[in-house]
Amino acid sequence: MLSKEDNELVTRVGPGTPMGILMREYWVPALLASELPSPDSDPVRVMLLGEKLIAFRDSNGNAGLIQNHCPHRGASLFFGRNEEAGLRCVYHGWKFSVDGTCVDMPNEPAESDFKHKVRAVAYPCKERGGVIWAYMGPRTEPPALPDLEPNMLPDDQVVLAAIQRECNWLQGLEGDIDTSHLGFLHLGAVQPGDTRADTFAYYTVNDRAPHYQVVDTEYGAMYGAYRPGPDGQQYWRFAQFLFPFYAMIPTGVLGLQVLVRAWVPMDDEHMMFFSMGSRASQVQSSNVNANRRMVRQRPGEMLLPNTTDWYGRFRLEANAANDYRIDRDKQRRKEDYTGIPGIHTQDQAVTESMGPIYDRTSERLGTSDVMVIRVRRRLIEAARAFADRGLTPPGVDSPEVYRVRSGGAFLPKDANWIEATTELRKAFVSHPELDPALAG
Ligand code: FES
Ligand SMILES: [Fe+2]
Repeated sequence: MLSKEDNELVTRVGPGTPMGILMREYWVPALLASELPSPDSDPVRVMLLGEKLIAFRDSNGNAGLIQNHCPHRGASLFFGRNEEAGLRCVYHGWKFSVDGTCVDMPNEPAESDFKHKVRAVAYPCKERGGVIWAYMGPRTEPPALPDLEPNMLPDDQVVLAAIQRECNWLQGLEGDIDTSHLGFLHLGAVQPGDTRADTFAYYTVNDRAPHYQVVDTEYGAMYGAYRPGPDGQQYWRFAQFLFPFYAMIPTGVLGLQVLVRAWVPMDDEHMMFFSMGSRASQVQSSNVNANRRMVRQRPGEMLLPNTTDWYGRFRLEANAANDYRIDRDKQRRKEDYTGIPGIHTQDQAVTESMGPIYDRTSERLGTSDVMVIRVRRRLIEAARAFADRGLTPPGVDSPEVYRVRSGGAFLPKDANWIEATTELRKAFVSHPELDPALAG
């Protein structure tokens, strides 16, 4: 439960809000590189942290993110001509380069130097791992990009997806750090006999009420959730929250899974989910799960065609307007716990159904919500510490702290869960000794 004041603080991300100011200290995934497929390709409307921006790729291949309204008299630069290394407003021809410089002002006399006095708001962009990152903060020298493993792999080894969700960003993030919903929302109809014995899947549905331990980390927070495993061992799930909006979920085998999920606020009531994973770990999990009842998440399935609207990118075909295609017969027969097809759509349905900005003043949190509680506290404290004392938020100036992984493992009952997994949680380490089939 949060006070009304804290709920406002942690959910609002527009310019000048404490959380918006905090997020602007970090690089933010703005769009997929494939949305700007080639030099001088069509500009794209991008809503990001409550700001309307126009993304474009100039003739030299550089990506830019510029204010929507032309600095002259406010026509939208979306309609601009993307030509000769700049975006030219179609109203009076003013032209801007990717860094916001006004490079041409053809409706002013040739002797005028007015163009040197005009600048458009333009945010620095960097491209890596198929993602276009934007820095919307105040530093003249932005910090380094975070060392997120799947974003640093060669392009042909990365699997990317983007899906829009119509609710506040924190509802998306909180779903990712809440292990216990897996045994209900996604696997509620799966019985132990449906799974292969001695796999994570078996123990997940064998005991649906795990215990949790949570620790603060340099990059955010981490939990270990445990329940009985084979031969007197325990089955542990380890997951990460990384500032300001990343999660690493514990679905695969710790040491093999390379996956980051970003819940990027478009505005207070819409987010863009970006999934960045390694091809190797996705192939492992899909081979293991072929022909099984446990359907893995397939982000990117069943999307409507993108439109050019502010909210037209990466929308699911199953959505609130069609009740996420719920099949009540399947739900009744318990063929499927929800009757809603697709793991991502199931998450989308429950989190959007909480409302555009969930009112956390009246919720009833249990022991399974301990990670959710911790992450909210970390976010609120970091936003306050930055606003009140100028304390640099976690990870901004230490990109290397993002070099971590998540996943599951069987550990002896008396093991120290943190010490026992130090090596396995390190990014960029290969573990040929581990068997991906363990996940089940
Ligand atoms: S409004 Fe853009 S050039 Fe006049
Ligand atoms: Fe989920």
